[in-house]
Amino acid sequence: MTSEPKTLPTEARFIPKRLEEVRKRALENPEEFFAEIARELEWFKTWDKVLDDSNPPFYRWFVGGLINASYNAVDRHLKRGLRNKAAIIWEGEPGDTRVLTYYQLYREVNRFAAVLENLGLRKGDTIAFYLPMIPELPIFMLAAARLGITFTVVFSGFSAKALAERINDAKAKVLVTADGGFRRGKVIELKKIADEALEMAPSVETVIVVKNVTARGAKIDVPLTEGRDYWLHNLLPAHAKVDPVPVESTHPLFILYTSGTTGKPKGVVHSTGGYLVWVYATMKWVFDVKPDDVMFCTADIGWITGHSYVVFGPLLHGITTVMYEGAPDYPAPDRWWQIVEKYGVTIFYTAPTAIRMLMRYGEEWVKKHDLSTLRILGTVGEPINPEAWKWYYTVVGGERCPIVDTWWQTETGGIMISPAPGIQLVPLKPGSATYPLPGVDADVVCEDGSPCPPGQRGYLVIKRPWPGMLMTLWGDPERYVRTYWQRFSKPEEGKWIYYPADYAMKDEDGYFWILGRADEVIKVAGHRLGTAEIESALVSHPAVAEAAVVGKPDPVKGEVPVAFVVLRQGYTPSEELRHELVEHVRKTLGPIAVPAAIFFVEKLPKTRSGKIMRRVIKAVLLGKTPGDLTTLEDEASLDEIRRALEEFK
Ligand code: WT7
Repeated sequence: MTSEPKTLPTEARFIPKRLEEVRKRALENPEEFFAEIARELEWFKTWDKVLDDSNPPFYRWFVGGLINASYNAVDRHLKRGLRNKAAIIWEGEPGDTRVLTYYQLYREVNRFAAVLENLGLRKGDTIAFYLPMIPELPIFMLAAARLGITFTVVFSGFSAKALAERINDAKAKVLVTADGGFRRGKVIELKKIADEALEMAPSVETVIVVKNVTARGAKIDVPLTEGRDYWLHNLLPAHAKVDPVPVESTHPLFILYTSGTTGKPKGVVHSTGGYLVWVYATMKWVFDVKPDDVMFCTADIGWITGHSYVVFGPLLHGITTVMYEGAPDYPAPDRWWQIVEKYGVTIFYTAPTAIRMLMRYGEEWVKKHDLSTLRILGTVGEPINPEAWKWYYTVVGGERCPIVDTWWQTETGGIMISPAPGIQLVPLKPGSATYPLPGVDADVVCEDGSPCPPGQRGYLVIKRPWPGMLMTLWGDPERYVRTYWQRFSKPEEGKWIYYPADYAMKDEDGYFWILGRADEVIKVAGHRLGTAEIESALVSHPAVAEAAVVGKPDPVKGEVPVAFVVLRQGYTPSEELRHELVEHVRKTLGPIAVPAAIFFVEKLPKTRSGKIMRRVIKAVLLGKTPGDLTTLEDEASLDEIRRALEEFK
């Protein structure tokens, strides 16, 4: 065996010539560059203009163009000889499997679209999906897109309240859910959670229920409300043809809710044309797509990673996407490796938190399997620590596969900063996402917006629009401008700069290192949670007067939320109350938001104007010096925090 290092060593000074050239071309003439890529998709009508920047920061891509996402992800391949190729390989947690060829997917998408059409839904309507990781979810997404119905997928781990909030904001008329889903051998009764949500979501007229767990042997009771709820199988025609509706490139394909710095989730709106082009391009650059690739992206479709790299990315390229329903370590810690071996996965994409968890079980679980089909390994969602990176590279990838550490966000639609083996692989440095992709004008700036010198921490910014960018926040264009464009733009000079709210650093080689969130958002097991959301969940409990939530570093999850709570008069701290609050957060937001610890304090550190100083709480929690305290109103509040931490030990 030759052990020629393809991706390391990292020390070598290296001039990535081809990559440089492509990046240069993209920045010099973005319209021509992106038009060339966009032409690889099929348009019903070609755009009049690649980028309309007449009303920044409301940029519009491929304006005048007419396209359909479902047509490009499915129908287009039938003419390319791919009818019998596996589009979706699905594996259930109990080990059952389903395979849908492109032709079968085409038939299903048409049948599902007929159901939506028969319910009277049409272009401009919105629909909400609250489904587990089963093929019906991507089929419904494609069916909605076929008709120009804007969909919003709500992660099936979210609570009834979180679901209701999203349905209400999106004003969805129809909700699609399932009787339940499997997780770690247990049934999660989704329809019951949905029923609870529907009491708070009056816009929903119709509920479609997929028979999932009860069709697979689970004995649960599934109440249907007459006149509102229907089993999917009773609505599905035996066969149907529904013509794809050509929609404007700027027509919203989907809304996806994500956490911000306030309690209210943000409805990120993605376009059809720009989004598809970006996902299509990044698949090529980052994953170096080949016709017989089998891609296993482990993300749930309820997150953007699942939208872009379980569903649209692979299907736009006509490759096979693997969907797995359950937990990575259930029934055993080699569940994913078993799947990789069984289906000959070539591209594997996951999050650092999962790598760290699987690493803990030991390498024998990986070694049990033949993983020689793997070609590219990806990571996303949070910074990856070098130890996990090396394990991934060595144990999983057998030192053969480049690790693509991909930085991006719900808002960016697709990958933005990452190695690009599809163009040219540069030497990798564990923990760095390397260079921005073509067309991404990223930089690191200081507080005042001036470029940061190499080696210094600053703020990541994107200095020009890219096709995959969000169009706006659903129903709240002002918040869109405020959140992403206010911090560093200089509208009077015609400068519009996108602010992702991440700390970053560039090194001497120009490599980007993403260092974590610069706002009050925390990343728990790769998921984005607003500390304000958890705080408002806590405060909605009658016992809680005030709450402050901060992220505490965790060896597996990256960060976990920790809460400091001031009780109302008449309530006293107890183990029982602590437990009750934990359950309350679980009910309000869902299991991923549950605090790892709750501390009772008499008061919280605040500024004189009454703002909670989370930065100070975090410093005390980490045993660090709290830094500038000139605005702190009452020093005693810090002793309070210290005392609470002490008692907890
Ligand atoms: C935030 C976005 C986009 C898919 C999953 C998360 C963090 C994302 C990386 C990375 C360091 C990363 C950032 C970003 N993040 N990828 N490779 N290295 N940090 O999407 O929930 O919208 O979260 O995840 O903080 O802003 P999201």
